[in-house]
Formats: sequence, structure tokens, C-alpha cells
Amino acid sequence: MVETKTVTFNKPIVKGSVKVPGDKSISHRAIMLGSIAEGRTRIKGFLDGDDCLRTIEIFKRLGVSIERSGTDVLITSPGIKKWVTPTEELYAGNSGTTARLMLGILSGSAVTSTLTGDASLSKRPMKRVITPLQSMGASISGDEEGDFLPLTIVGSMLEGIDYKMPVASAQVKSAILFAGLNAKGETVVRESAVSRDHTERMLQQFGAELLKDGNTVRIQGGQALSGTDVIVPGDISSAAFFMAAAAMIKDSEVIFRNVGLNPTRTGIIEVLRQMGAEVEILEHNGEKGEYYGVVKVAHSRLEGIEISGDIIPTLIDELPIIALLATQATGTTVIKDAAELRVKETDRIAAVTDELTKLGAKVEATEDGMIIEGPTPLLGGEMKSYGDHRIGMMAAIAALVSVGPIHIEDPSCIAISYPNFFDHLSQLVQARSEE
Ligand code: S3P
Repeated sequence: MVETKTVTFNKPIVKGSVKVPGDKSISHRAIMLGSIAEGRTRIKGFLDGDDCLRTIEIFKRLGVSIERSGTDVLITSPGIKKWVTPTEELYAGNSGTTARLMLGILSGSAVTSTLTGDASLSKRPMKRVITPLQSMGASISGDEEGDFLPLTIVGSMLEGIDYKMPVASAQVKSAILFAGLNAKGETVVRESAVSRDHTERMLQQFGAELLKDGNTVRIQGGQALSGTDVIVPGDISSAAFFMAAAAMIKDSEVIFRNVGLNPTRTGIIEVLRQMGAEVEILEHNGEKGEYYGVVKVAHSRLEGIEISGDIIPTLIDELPIIALLATQATGTTVIKDAAELRVKETDRIAAVTDELTKLGAKVEATEDGMIIEGPTPLLGGEMKSYGDHRIGMMAAIAALVSVGPIHIEDPSCIAISYPNFFDHLSQLVQARSEE
């Protein structure tokens, strides 16, 4: 039976401070690079969510020693050249980042392996990484067209490539860069719009040389990496749920401590400001590598805006919660150029439109986004998560502004990126004192 969780509040305000868990994208990459590199890597602030734990399990099967104690991880690796051929399939669960980045890594390794995933991941397109990897000489095969998991990868000697990416995707870029690290010659990746650059930053942190020039990244093959220490900042994509709550609920104010501020991820801050929310960066740290800081978000009157073009990759995972926010803003919010949402953990355009419409919101789905008219009062009711963590959290935040309880179907998926989400939600919610 599918679990249901009822979330209900009576005219709440959100107040206080929160330290969201570690960044999912950075946590995956820290495990991956720590396993590719020879020697010891220590990670602090690791996200112990389901997706990142899958990545750990995969590298253990490849013969890497990984010891985890909460959010501290110690990796001791013999280096990619000495990985062992796994005796079992490598299971990526629900994690697109694990699957796509592993395809790039395994293609240039010395092992043969089969990568599998859950029902959702097995429907997500892999051709976007397989096509460039095959032109580098990778041997990747599956059934039918070979676009979906399970896929078998026979590690091979790869050749560098000069590749212009048809979609702005950090997962595709990262898969090619990881393959390029173990290929002959130079690999060049050209993006149409800049996507998150955690891979580039962390490759440099592990000692790789890499050239960045606008939307182009170049890496020379055959570079050996050595283990290092990585500190993972809080995930701005997780903070975004409480940022939206603070912005849309009168008298609310939340301070986010140690939240990642990589400029390729801060589109949410830009959008909150453009909509009229009060956002203040109270501290900004980190000279090299990843930026992080303290951010305050407070309520103010919100207005609808257009969100399109190059900002989209910098807030792609925040669009479900931005859609909810737009239902509470005055006027029209138009989200365009976000067709990628259709191939996330679920079709997020369809899921957000259907679930918010059920509550009485005015949301129209378009091919590459949504049009939302606000403000609309939201009713309580049943909301499905579709097994998608970001839709599940959007439903829980909707309960803060709905007039009745929200019953979330299948909320357990929230542990994929934010295992202690409901604890933080109850810590931040306060009863409004009678006016
Ligand atoms: C991720 C990149 C994004 C994002 C995903 C994590 C990453 O996907 O949606 O949650 O860690 O590289 P795309 O790059 O495919 O858009």
C-alpha cells in the first residue's frame, strides 16, 4: 500500500534559521572524483540522501573503500585504473546524475559493468550521453535502441571529442568531461547556456587542469587525480522550498546558514528578487571552488514575472516550487524554455500543473513550461508525489498556504534529496499570534 502523509497548518508563519543538508550534485561528484583519484579523500557535509547513497554503493562494488559516518565520508581508492570488475549489477536507483555520470566514467575505465535503475530512471533518456560517448569510442549497449537502462558498458580506450551540446545539461557535460579525463588527446564541450559547473570546479580541486572560456570547457586526457578534502555546502535547491515559503507567507523570515551560492545555481535568488521578495546575502564565502554563505529571505508582496532563456539551467530543479510561489503572486508568471522538466524524475510540467490545479490554482501547461495566474487561494486535498522528491516537497509547502489539509501520496521519495525535510518544516513553522 502507498503511504500517505497529512500535512496541515492553521494560518502559519515561517520563522527562524535552518542549515539545509549537503548539495546533492556536489556530493555525487565528491564520491565520484574521490573514487577516480588515487589515495584518500575526506568529505564533510555529504548529503546522506538516497541518490547519493546509491553512488557510494556503486563504487564499493568497483573495489573502492568508502566509510561513512553520517555526513562525513572517507574514501580510499586505488584509482580508476585498478578498479575491480563488479560481480553484480550497478544499481543507480532513482538517480539520473548517478546513471549519466557513471556512463561517462565507466566508458573510459578498465572494467565491464551493467548499470540499472528503478522504474522512473529506466524511462529517462540516456541517448544524450551515449551518442557523444560512442563517438569517443565508448562501448555501451542495451536492448532496442539502447536509449534506456539497463546498459552494459565495456571500458575502452577513448579518443577526445569536440562536442556541441544540443541541450544545456550539466549531466551530459559532466559525463563527457569524465570520459575526456581518461581519453587520448583533448576533449572540448560547448554548451548553449551555462549549466551547473560543479564538475569543472571539483576536477580542478582534485588536481586536473582544465580550461574554461565562456560556454566552452577543455580538458586534456590522461591526467591522474589525487585524493583531497571536500567540503560540501548546503543545497540551494533544498533551501528553495523554505525560501519560497518565507517569500509567500506574510510576516515570515528565514535565515539559511551555509547554503551553496555557486553562481550557476542561484537563479532562484534572482527570481525571488524579481518577484519582489526580500532577499539579503548576509555572508558570502569561498574564494576558490564552491561559494557558500548566509541568506535571509523575507515576505513581501509578490508579482508574476517571465522566467526564460539562459536563467533556466540555473534554477531547473526549482521550477516546481517557483510554480507554487507564482500561484500566490499577483499577475501572470510565464515559464518558458524549460522542456527539460518533461524528462526529470517525472514529467514535472504535467505533475505540477495537475497537482496545483486540483487545489484550485490557475496553471496552464505548455510544451516547454507553464503559465500561472495569481493570486489564487488554494484548497486542501490529495496531492501525488509521483515518486518525485521535488513534487513531494512542493505539496508539503502548499499545505502552508492551503485552507485545508494536504494529503501527500508517497512522501518517502523526499528522502532522495532532503532526508530531514519534515523536521525542518516543523521547526520553522510557528503559530501566528492572534491579531
Ligand atoms: C544535475 C543536473 C541537472 C539537475 C539534476 C542534477 C547534476 O540535470 O536537474 O537534479 O548534478 O548534474 P541536467 O543537467 O540534466 O539538467
